[in-house]
Amino acid sequence: MDSFFSKPIEKWYKEHKRFLPWRCTSDPYAIWISEIILQQTRVAQGLEYYKRFMSRFPNVATLALASEDEVLLYWQGLGYYSRARNLHFAAHQIVEQGGFPDTYDGIRALKGVGDYTAAAIGSIAFGLPYAVVDGNVYRILSRVFGVEIPIDSTQGKKYFAQLAQRLLDVDAPGLYNQSVMDFGALQCLPKSPDCTACPLQERCVAYAQCKVDAFPVKSHKTKVTDRYFHYMNFRIGDEMLLRQRKGNDIWKNLYEIPLVEADHRLTMEELEKTPLFQQLACNQIQQVKEQIKHVLSHRVIHADLYLLSADKWPSPLPEGYFKLKVSDLGNYAISRLMDVILHEK
Ligand code: ADE
Repeated sequence: MDSFFSKPIEKWYKEHKRFLPWRCTSDPYAIWISEIILQQTRVAQGLEYYKRFMSRFPNVATLALASEDEVLLYWQGLGYYSRARNLHFAAHQIVEQGGFPDTYDGIRALKGVGDYTAAAIGSIAFGLPYAVVDGNVYRILSRVFGVEIPIDSTQGKKYFAQLAQRLLDVDAPGLYNQSVMDFGALQCLPKSPDCTACPLQERCVAYAQCKVDAFPVKSHKTKVTDRYFHYMNFRIGDEMLLRQRKGNDIWKNLYEIPLVEADHRLTMEELEKTPLFQQLACNQIQQVKEQIKHVLSHRVIHADLYLLSADKWPSPLPEGYFKLKVSDLGNYAISRLMDVILHEK
């Protein structure tokens, strides 16, 4: 064990750590929920969701008994909804096994749990000796040790995983992992870290070389795809149309208003020629506002909104869509983009 790294970080943690509700428990269920929420979500944003989620689903049995729709409703706004679906699935796995798994392999076998999450839960809840490795860890280790191997290469991933495991404090893996998490979130920041206040400053290769901003090294950026969504809020009186998204795409199982996707931004004339638009047989159309740009991790969605109306509902309704009262919309889980769109005038 290289304690020259772990000891100063653990000391720093004792002085600077964040007091978070999942740090006041050893309940693996609570720790698991917090780790799933914190995948792709910052602590500040995840905290209220965690509290709300835990008061509705205080244990694995309540979660397993709930409907997927309700779980998605409690997740609404957090994004990456497959996390919520996997969580619900894993709740059934845990109930079937008769309790929360207490080995690394058992935890790693839960749906939605990857290496990082298994190491976090295993170390925090059960003291298992597995180091977490994520973007924060890449940044801290690449700087302190001056590692120039790109973090998005196979070689880099292997190298950092081994280095992280070697640095782990095996006598206190949960304490160590959480120290690294907070050190990455509060001290060794991606931009302009305050190195003058850093306990590892004297040991830090990047600091010595005045190259803190050059780490971690990346070989290429992830490719981003553009998608063009044309949403049509079709309303007659106090009723509207909605459908549940299916298939293996973003926002699976969330609800949305009629949508036409195209490989470019459609003009109103082009939209009017699409089968869905024709089926709606509307007699009023109005384009609302500017295009909305919604940025996700690997996609940029360019969304246009149209308001449509007619004297009567088309019969039959377009496949997959159903009517509902606008005032009942709150019962359906929707994406953040849909929320923005529906709150447009
Ligand atoms: N990020 C991921 N897991 C975390 C945890 N347990 N505490 C703080 N930040 C985290």
